[in-house]
Amino acid sequence: MESIRLSVTGSVTSRCGFAILLVLIFSCSTFTSTEAYDALDPNGNITLKWDVMSWTPDGYVAVVTMYNFQQYRHIQAPGWTLGWTWAKKEVIWSMMGAQTTEQGDCSKFKGNVPHCCKKDPTVVDLLPGTPYNQQIANCCKGGVLNSWGQDPANAVGSFQVSVGAAGTTNRTVKLPKNFTLKAPGPGYTCGPAKIVRPTQFVTNDKRRTTQALMTWNITCTYSQFLAQKTPTCCVSLSSFYNDSIVNCPTCTCGCQNKTEPGSCVNPDTPHLASVVSSSGKASNTPLVQCTSHMCPIRVHWHVKVNYKEYWRVKITITNFNYRMNYSQWNLVVQHPNFDNLTQLFSFKYKSLTPYDGLNDTGMLWGVQFYNDFLSSAGEMGNVQSEILFRKDASTFTLDKGWAFPRRIYFNGDNCVMPPPDSYPWLPNATSKSVFSLLASAIATFVSLAILLANI
Ligand SMILES: *[C@@H]1O[C@H](CO)[C@@H](O)[C@H](O)[C@H]1NC(C)=O
Ligand SMILES: *[C@@H]1O[C@H](CO)[C@@H](O)[C@H](O)[C@H]1NC(C)=O
Ligand SMILES: *[C@@H]1O[C@H](CO)[C@@H](O)[C@H](O)[C@H]1NC(C)=O
Ligand SMILES: *[C@@H]1O[C@H](CO)[C@@H](O)[C@H](O)[C@H]1NC(C)=O
Ligand SMILES: *[C@@H]1O[C@H](CO)[C@@H](O)[C@H](O)[C@H]1NC(C)=O
Ligand SMILES: *[C@@H]1O[C@H](CO)[C@@H](O)[C@H](O)[C@H]1NC(C)=O
Ligand SMILES: *[C@@H]1O[C@H](CO)[C@@H](O)[C@H](O)[C@H]1NC(C)=O
Ligand SMILES: *[C@@H]1O[C@H](CO)[C@@H](O)[C@H](O)[C@H]1NC(C)=O
Ligand SMILES: *[C@@H]1O[C@H](CO)[C@@H](O)[C@H](O)[C@H]1NC(C)=O
Repeated sequence: MESIRLSVTGSVTSRCGFAILLVLIFSCSTFTSTEAYDALDPNGNITLKWDVMSWTPDGYVAVVTMYNFQQYRHIQAPGWTLGWTWAKKEVIWSMMGAQTTEQGDCSKFKGNVPHCCKKDPTVVDLLPGTPYNQQIANCCKGGVLNSWGQDPANAVGSFQVSVGAAGTTNRTVKLPKNFTLKAPGPGYTCGPAKIVRPTQFVTNDKRRTTQALMTWNITCTYSQFLAQKTPTCCVSLSSFYNDSIVNCPTCTCGCQNKTEPGSCVNPDTPHLASVVSSSGKASNTPLVQCTSHMCPIRVHWHVKVNYKEYWRVKITITNFNYRMNYSQWNLVVQHPNFDNLTQLFSFKYKSLTPYDGLNDTGMLWGVQFYNDFLSSAGEMGNVQSEILFRKDASTFTLDKGWAFPRRIYFNGDNCVMPPPDSYPWLPNATSKSVFSLLASAIATFVSLAILLANI
């Protein structure tokens, strides 16, 4: 761990050979980060817990609970989809708080027909407003789960399943296999079910504690590499000391296709609303405003004021997608001065400390009923906030791009930054400082690489 601190805070020599070494390590770290591992949320996972509440004549009744233990990655509409493969010839007699998407072939059942006879059922949550007699606690959220860091009370979902043609004791029951979690796209990998000590439950009147008869857990982790997503978000920069606005890199999230007119929307188009609603009803595919970067989301970081003991940043998040409202959006920002954030206006904040001694990362999100809803491009389409940092005289500088963020995630997706050599310069800056800026940006990645190597 000592080496991390050294490379984060230590000065970077700009000798050429060292720089080449850094670039090599940098390319290693990009490779490493493609695995199912997130350096800013190293323990992040979604845990599924199956509690067998009773044995039945031909199987059992279990309550399945999903805990989204991830700090900032949530599951937004249209929600999660959970699948598994039965070990034997199990069927689902009934469910509460969720349903399978298909019944499958139940033709060999006469009279009492199961809810689902598929070998590999796929389960989805019920929608809010489901009749009470089909609900259980924590169900019926349309598959939406908030993140643990932002709202732990809403990071849990449950359903109940009554399983037939299964084992009827804890020695004969076989655990389901091959769990798949979609949220709603790919990205999660689930491990095998493992038997754990049975969970205890407090009854509704809080006067008695009961215990599940048997409990097993499944842990699912996210990988941006598996999700195979093109970037969905980019960062633009500006400052009070330089007029130029450094825009998102061109074609960050795709390029405008001039030969296909409907591929993006020009905001000056007459009858904009009808263009947006008519062009394709496949409303999950984004329809973005025509920009040079073509990203659905842009985060703008403006270094606004330099006071004697403090400095101020303005952050604006803009939604360029006409087909998406982001409720409960969040932002993860890494900047060395997050160890002394003094005031944050109109956003909520939580410090993320993935490792001891690393306190340069914070999570920001909207205030409920005020700006927790980032509406689509056709509406308001942006939220903003200002942050006041207290200067630490030994580190603060406007030089070398220090005042700009090291890393930004929107809803857990990495936002593409402009290249370091394009950052706004101080009026008297020389190209030499650009080189050291580049070196310090690389050093940030190196520290990440060392972190990854140490784990
Ligand atoms: C899942 O996350 C929880 C909470 O952060 C943690 O306690 C647990 O160890 C994690 N499980 C795995 C297998 O990483
Ligand atoms: C597990 O599920 C995946 C996807 O549903 C499938 O391709 C694979 O064959 C399954 N494996 C087993 C052992 O059932
Ligand atoms: C199975 O049930 C017996 C008796 O109820 C209990 O002693 C045992 O620990 C259980 N085993 C598992 C794996 O839950
Ligand atoms: C199983 O999941 C529960 C639910 O949060 C958790 O408390 C427990 O630590 C998990 N056990 C294992 C072995 O992951
Ligand atoms: C642009 O759109 C046309 C028509 O759909 C398609 O044939 C072409 O491959 C696209 N070009 C690019 C660069 O995406
Ligand atoms: C976004 O929210 C607004 C207001 O709640 C609603 O009118 C609109 O249909 C929503 N747009 C989409 C694409 O869901
Ligand atoms: C943050 O600011 C406070 C108040 O001036 C100061 O006492 C403290 O040392 C600072 N912390 C760090 C880590 O710079
Ligand atoms: C942040 O981490 C640094 C380096 O480990 C430490 O010196 C400092 O006290 C920490 N600041 C806070 C506010 O925890
Ligand atoms: C502002 O920064 C840009 C680099 O983004 C640089 O080319 C330009 O010269 C700077 N302007 C001034 C007045 O220093």
